[in-house]
Amino acid sequence: MEFKQIVMERYATKKFDKRQIPQQKLDELLEITRHAPSSFNIEPWKIIVISKQATKEKLSPATWNQPQITSCSHLLVFCANTDIKGNIDLLENEMLAKGAKQEDIKDYIQMMRGFEKGMTDEQRLSWAQRQTFLAQNETQFTGHKSRQTR
Ligand SMILES: Cc1cc2nc3c(=O)[nH]c(=O)nc-3n(C[C@H](O)[C@H](O)[C@H](O)COP(=O)(O)O)c2cc1C
Repeated sequence: MEFKQIVMERYATKKFDKRQIPQQKLDELLEITRHAPSSFNIEPWKIIVISKQATKEKLSPATWNQPQITSCSHLLVFCANTDIKGNIDLLENEMLAKGAKQEDIKDYIQMMRGFEKGMTDEQRLSWAQRQTFLAQNETQFTGHKSRQTR
């Protein structure tokens, strides 16, 4: 499908018809989300997938009781991960595991750690939130075919 068509057909669903999204489709969606861009590629988010109806209902008041929260197949809660330091460690480990040499990546890793240290807690949260929003948007576009009723 053309990107323009995808953009034109995307819409905010207000209520779902309770059909369940198959696990394979959900996995595909999460895998695509993993490819969202992020600063330093550290993906500072966590996605909580909620399929239990009782949990959706518990969260409903926090969303002004909007019907899409309780009628959806799976509720994806995107959380900004402020443990930037931990994410940098993970990225370093992954680079090493993929065959990068410590001496080749050390300056890059050091630069990231310096950047992280220079931030206040408030900046860390805001930085992670803005990137989490990008990942959430990726889901909106890739999920558009999974929508059910408007
Ligand atoms: C940051 C943001 C927050 C939104 N919050 C809600 C919301 O709480 N409930 C809702 O029904 N739609 C929400 N929307 C969807 C917008 O209302 C919707 O995108 C806009 O009316 C245009 O309609 P469309 O997306 O169907 O083209 C939100 C959109 C954005 C970008």
